[in-house]
Amino acid sequence: MELRMRYRLTQPTTASLLVLATTAVLMAVSCAAKDLPEAFDKCKRDSNFDKCLVDAVNKAIQILKPGNKEFEVPALEPLHVKSLVIDAGTAPINLRQTLKNVMVTDMISTSKIQRYRTDLDKYLIICDSFTGRIQMLGDYEMSGRILLLPITGNGRANITLVNTKIEHRLIGEPFEKDGVQYMRLKEYRVSFDPKRVYMHFENLFNDATLSQTMNRFLNDNWETVFNELKVGYAKSFGRIFREISNRLFEKIPMDSIFLR
Ligand SMILES: *[C@@H]1O[C@H](CO)[C@@H](O)[C@H](O)[C@H]1NC(C)=O
Repeated sequence: MELRMRYRLTQPTTASLLVLATTAVLMAVSCAAKDLPEAFDKCKRDSNFDKCLVDAVNKAIQILKPGNKEFEVPALEPLHVKSLVIDAGTAPINLRQTLKNVMVTDMISTSKIQRYRTDLDKYLIICDSFTGRIQMLGDYEMSGRILLLPITGNGRANITLVNTKIEHRLIGEPFEKDGVQYMRLKEYRVSFDPKRVYMHFENLFNDATLSQTMNRFLNDNWETVFNELKVGYAKSFGRIFREISNRLFEKIPMDSIFLR
């Protein structure tokens, strides 16, 4: 009885075979090695490689700006970020800041990569870029201390970085799929060096007057304040950039991205 039951359960029907076959085909299609989108320029690994990448990637980023369905790359501008959590634990600032439903605008259109330094034998890509404006708008929640002053609040936030030098450090590792070599990023480290940061947190202390005073104080001391927060922002952006980059790296064989 039990045996027969099991036999029945595992007996494949035409319908289930069809489903299996379709699934297998779909999987093969979505896992098959892809090539870079046609509009991208490719670079050969020769003495001009780092220079070639500057132009190729600058062009590629603008092409990817509205997103790319084939590679499941989301829209990069505006870039929607569900949440950014920043813990700044070192004196004189001791703060937890959460930003939710963040819209990052202007970042892609005002970005230019200036220089690459690569060592693909070590799966290492370093680049310097300059971004005219990064505007982050979202819902914030904050509590802790800034420059010894207690700060607390929730509401709309606007954090805008102006003329920011960014160093990107992409640390990759090789992996193989169907006998083909790919590279994926283990780490994507970002460091921000803005010329100016503007911050506005609506409704601090749930009090309009105190809020205005505190916002003025934060902006007068933007450099000290941002220095404490920037590692948190950099970590969040590093994670986002890594995930987006890997959408391409994990689907396109390394030799199809960086020609030999
Ligand atoms: C955000 O702040 C920047 C800098 O102060 C300002 O230029 C911009 O208009 C603000 N954005 C919004 C939506 O309020």
